[in-house]
Amino acid sequence: MQAIAKVILFGEHSVVYGKKALAIPIKELKLRVKKQEGKCYQDEHVEYIKGLVNLKGYLNVQSNIPISRGLGSSAALSIAIARLAGADEKIISTLAEKKAHGNPSGIDSAVISTEKALVFQKGRENIYIDKKIGAYLLIMDSGIQSSTKEAVENVKKLNRMDLIDELGDITEKAIGHFMHDNVYSLGTLMKKAQNILVKLKLSNEKIDRIVKKANYYSLGSKITGSGLGGCVISLFTSKKKANKLRKKIKKEGVVNSWIVSV
Ligand code: PMV
Repeated sequence: MQAIAKVILFGEHSVVYGKKALAIPIKELKLRVKKQEGKCYQDEHVEYIKGLVNLKGYLNVQSNIPISRGLGSSAALSIAIARLAGADEKIISTLAEKKAHGNPSGIDSAVISTEKALVFQKGRENIYIDKKIGAYLLIMDSGIQSSTKEAVENVKKLNRMDLIDELGDITEKAIGHFMHDNVYSLGTLMKKAQNILVKLKLSNEKIDRIVKKANYYSLGSKITGSGLGGCVISLFTSKKKANKLRKKIKKEGVVNSWIVSV
């Protein structure tokens, strides 16, 4: 059984406070899980999910979704195991994400389970977006593992609801521009969102350097997911332009990158 990755385009962190977020599935990155004959190492979180779905024996997990980089690897894991066990993937991933992240909004599970681009808001029906905007995204892995739990707790301690509101407003605008394929406006909003994520202390020196260089070549760039490391995304009008940055950004210590159409 398998599950895919996700990217949050707009609204990470503010989504925890009930604001909207916009996310897309990343089908190029996948996690596969199957039953394994004989023993093998079983990570603590895999054991926990196996317990939830009452699965015995060992599991073989193969994945090209980098772990703890904001691309939804933990939700993909719980969803793939739930699928293997024939369990309810929504219930299982909600429980597993709570164990892993404390107080998750549920956005990762929603996108990864449905494999659809969507507007997510806690306690509301998902709004699915069955369209593309004719743009390209370069996803750049900083190589720094980050803890979603820690990032969410740090934001809570900072208690800057003014910044959360700003992120919410940016996301509202971004959803409108996404619907109208306003790629340039989306790039500008990505830069604005990143400035706020920096104020929320979710960046670091390496991410700042990647974003600075990426902004030079792209329409806009920002952290995706919890921050404190993880991945940066940049928006482009063409694959060729995305490829140019892909080559240049290696110098900044990006360990892996992917180009996806949006
Ligand atoms: O787990 P990540 O890095 O994909 O982050 C999820 C996005 C947050 O808004 C930071 C947390 C959440 O639960 O929505």
